[in-house]
Amino acid sequence: MRVLSGIQPSGAVHLGNYLGALRQWAQQQSNNSYYCVVDLHALTLPISPADLQRHTLELSATLFAVGLDPNVATVFVQSQVPHHTRLSWILECVASYGELSRMTQFKEKADRQDGFSAGLFTYPVLMAADILLYDAQRVPVGDDQRQHLELARNLAERFNNRYGETFVVPEGFFPPVAARVMDLQEPTRKMSKSVSSPLGAMGIFDSEADIRKKIMKAMTDTDGEVRFDWDAKPGLANLLEIFSAFSGETPDTVASRYERYGDLKKDLADLVVAHLAPITQRRDDLLADKGELNRLLSIGAARAEVIAEATYRRAASAVGVN
Ligand code: TYM
Repeated sequence: MRVLSGIQPSGAVHLGNYLGALRQWAQQQSNNSYYCVVDLHALTLPISPADLQRHTLELSATLFAVGLDPNVATVFVQSQVPHHTRLSWILECVASYGELSRMTQFKEKADRQDGFSAGLFTYPVLMAADILLYDAQRVPVGDDQRQHLELARNLAERFNNRYGETFVVPEGFFPPVAARVMDLQEPTRKMSKSVSSPLGAMGIFDSEADIRKKIMKAMTDTDGEVRFDWDAKPGLANLLEIFSAFSGETPDTVASRYERYGDLKKDLADLVVAHLAPITQRRDDLLADKGELNRLLSIGAARAEVIAEATYRRAASAVGVN
């Protein structure tokens, strides 16, 4: 099965990115998996050129560090394959202004900016191009990407109806637990690179001391009863889902083993630290040899381009351009 997904190099990778996406990618990788660092998407919000380059390389190292094997999966940087933007333009002419105006992430991000770029508005079309270029059947993402994925499906179907069978219509794949990791301080909103406070978001490369502090200080409630209930106890439910994602038990089973929040938090901190420390080590090793990292990325880009070129040709000739 052809799989594709992407992640933006827009800031520190947090636990939501890891459990919602990266860990699934590593677990499901095959010779037919394509994972990209979407640097062009990161241009939609203000970022300095130096930060963008640094984040792109660090995030690429992170993908290998979480377990993607360059001999198995194809890992590449979006802007190294020129067909993404070329297909995006064609798809912009298939997408409607109205449907892009309804994208909730656009509305939220636009509300937080003084002036926003046209790129922020057309962002989900570039994402659709990423997916459709690779004939992806499955797209492993967190819950917050559902609406964007639905747009990619709609654009594929509309294009196929209008111009003849060209694109595969992709399906989303959402992890069974931790598809939406919530902010540790405000558990009714998702953990986010751009919005969460320092205590609300846990970076996967945070120091051991910070990881422990953020879990111990995580917002819960005052009734003191350990049970898995998103409506009544969102803070605790979030911790139970994170625990469950790391331990492989169900959130209810984890809850049944504890009587006190403090004990649960302490064990969770141990679990998270033990799991993340080797990833940090591997990422640092990879970043120590940038030449090798860039070599792996150019191999990935060359492999990706073979597929992208063939799909782009199909789409371009279907609409009558080159
Ligand atoms: P991005 O970079 O914001 O996030 C990368 C991945 O992390 C998931 N995620 C979460 N999962 C669980 N809980 C959270 N709190 C949480 N926050 C983020 C996201 O769902 C995502 O899977 N538009 C995409 C990037 C993209 C893409 C693509 C994805 C560009 N092209 C093609 C798939 C296919 C984004 O901004 O993800």
